[in-house]
Amino acid sequence: MKNPVVPYILIMAFGIGLIFFMSIYGVDKQEEIALENGEEQSSDSQSETQADSNKAFDPESFVQESCIGCHGNALEGAFGPALKGTSLSKDEIVEVLQNGKGQMPAFKDVDQAAIADYILSLE
Ligand code: HEC
Repeated sequence: MKNPVVPYILIMAFGIGLIFFMSIYGVDKQEEIALENGEEQSSDSQSETQADSNKAFDPESFVQESCIGCHGNALEGAFGPALKGTSLSKDEIVEVLQNGKGQMPAFKDVDQAAIADYILSLE
């Protein structure tokens, strides 16, 4: 006995199957793309950090990045006191960097002595 509805059901089943297949395939693809991008990004930042650690510490650019926001563009003093022409000794500057002072955060993982030398080299 031939049921005239059967071909429609088959087509419907095929259509639903196709939708499932495409969405699952799409999710896989999305993950793949995300993974690829993620890997690229992490390998990028890896090579960057490697380059950074190979580079000799440059106190001038560190100070430009980390200190001028509070101490002024020329370290002439702003939110924090002037560092240019400071009367502090090298040891005292290192101590401020090691422990922080008042509102100033500590900078522990850097070459504090090189920073102090740099500050004292400013006239
Ligand atoms: C969040 C803002 C801020 C940042 C960033 C900052 N400082 Fe300071 N710094 C201060 C403030 C405020 C003081 C004054 C603290 C006090 O006397 O209570 C200070 C004090 C100092 C002093 C002591 C000065 C004095 O005459 O007593 C030195 C030296 C110093 N900072 C160096 C640095 C260096 C070098 C950097 C960058 C590595 C830096 N600071 C980054 C806010 C900052």
